[in-house]
Amino acid sequence: MCGIVGYIGHRNCVPVILEGLRRLEYRGYDSAGIAVHSGGAIHVQKRAGKVADLAGSLDGGNGFLTATFGMGHTRWATHGEPNDVNAHPHGDASGRIALIHNGIIENYSSIRTKLLREGHVFRGGTDTEVLAHLIGAVYEKVGSLHEAVRLALSEVDGTYGIVVMSADDPSHMVAARRGSPLLIGVGQGEHFVASDASAVIEHTRHVAYLSDGEIAVITADGFRTSTIDDVGTEKVVEELNLELAQIERGGYDHFMLKEIHEQPSTIRDAMRGRLLVDEGNVKLGGLQHVMGRLLSARRVIVTACGTSWHAGLVAEYMLEQIARIPTEVEYASEFRYRNPLVNIDDVVFLISQSGETADTLAALREAKSKGATVLGVVNVVGSTIAREAHGGVYIHAGPEIGVASTKAFTSQLTVMALITLMLARARGMSREDGQILAREIASLPEKVQQILDGADEVKRIAHEFAGARNFLYLGRGSNFPVALEGALKLKEISYIHAEGYPAAEMKHGPIALIDERMPVVVVVPKDAIYEKVLSNIQEVRARKGRIIAIANEDDDEITGLAEFVIRVPRTYGFFGPILNIIPLQLLSYYIAVACGTNVDQPRNLAKSVTVE
Ligand code: AGP
Repeated sequence: MCGIVGYIGHRNCVPVILEGLRRLEYRGYDSAGIAVHSGGAIHVQKRAGKVADLAGSLDGGNGFLTATFGMGHTRWATHGEPNDVNAHPHGDASGRIALIHNGIIENYSSIRTKLLREGHVFRGGTDTEVLAHLIGAVYEKVGSLHEAVRLALSEVDGTYGIVVMSADDPSHMVAARRGSPLLIGVGQGEHFVASDASAVIEHTRHVAYLSDGEIAVITADGFRTSTIDDVGTEKVVEELNLELAQIERGGYDHFMLKEIHEQPSTIRDAMRGRLLVDEGNVKLGGLQHVMGRLLSARRVIVTACGTSWHAGLVAEYMLEQIARIPTEVEYASEFRYRNPLVNIDDVVFLISQSGETADTLAALREAKSKGATVLGVVNVVGSTIAREAHGGVYIHAGPEIGVASTKAFTSQLTVMALITLMLARARGMSREDGQILAREIASLPEKVQQILDGADEVKRIAHEFAGARNFLYLGRGSNFPVALEGALKLKEISYIHAEGYPAAEMKHGPIALIDERMPVVVVVPKDAIYEKVLSNIQEVRARKGRIIAIANEDDDEITGLAEFVIRVPRTYGFFGPILNIIPLQLLSYYIAVACGTNVDQPRNLAKSVTVE
């Protein structure tokens, strides 16, 4: 949600913090702020708008103080509208304590009422300002920042990743987490705190991940951690497997376009060292220790949010049709609260790009508490879901900066195809059949490249529809989730209303929307239900809808039925979504660019949703 950076060391912290915030901006970008310790006081500058606006107000950091200790925040508003007052950092009543926060303090209202009765005055409407005042009030009593934070947090319900500074003591900062990610970057005579590795990779590759319920005291030369109940904890300092170039745009206009074009190599990376084409099989190190539970599972439940949920829907087709395993797919936000009937015979896959999505994490903990085997399909290495699951598979898509997920989706599908083939073989599929599927999976990167080579044609079609206000996306079978995902991509970055629907469901209502102004995208590969989709296309044509068909190269019939045809190579039916989504990613991208929206940081969104 929000992005947090803290620095204590020997360098001027302002440019370090601003650069870190710029790298974290995909997490939240409606307001930003910085606080530094100088001359025995804490100096704060904050405002609504982007990090660039904050930097501008600091004259790029030169117009502000030079200091070696500070922190910064880029916000995604939950409580209190995005404005200069509600931006972080927030101070306590004395102005000697400053706090930045990522998360939601659920019982802030009762704490606020208590503090109001004690004479506190609040400037804004945020839960975070209330926490700052609470810490300040306790600090007045106990005089130790660490102790004040620890005691104050014991009164708090909700989620947080926080960093706290005191004007009284520039030797250290205090950080704590529950629910929101936070790591400590270890340097030579300097230390960092950040929401994720992209903010520190330029300075260090050595990090320690804070776990839920941990609090840390960080100085320039080291750190120590303990639980909120003051029990000391040991942290492992890990080496990051990330290159700076991976989080740069690399000459593309937007991260989203770069990430769309990375897919031939990211899909290849997802299968590297795992797909055994000659044996027609798959080896996944992260699942070996749970193979018994996987093979004896009564059913598989896949749970996730947003694009990852769409990946789950495609995986359901793969697992049921190829591996013959009963599979259910659940919205994590619903699953976590409906007391699901889950038990030790169930295997639950949590699909998440960030590995930090609050609803998916809660679904993991819910399923785990009921005895199920919980397995993560995650992109971000070291993320909370990856660390709390019984096992899992990293999708190796590399950092995904664009808020609209693209390469993570196709890598999630590739990994679910690998898991499916592995289970199908273990459940009796022949080596020959396995080889056929393995060869098909291995051919996907090249086929994706073929589609990307035709991007200009998609760009031309996109310009036709930049003025549209509504879109309908249709698909059948495993291409229904592709229609959902295509619609989501367009909504997210162009703000055009779009709906994905099972093609056969259209005549039960949405067909009423169709007239000569309605663009209708139909995913119609030449598979077992091709003829059925053609009938649906005829129903749209009869109402003069403007049809954009995603069809196979050797399909001549579709040419006469659709206004625009975007060609995709043929592949094995259930792997088709990995190809069929590519033109829809490009279509939404080029329409959004034509609409002039901020493609990488669309309004109201954030890359990792760490609050409910
Ligand atoms: C997709 O483009 C969105 N960014 C969003 O729907 C996302 O898929 C969802 O928030 C889940 O995120 P996760 O995969 O990191 O858990």
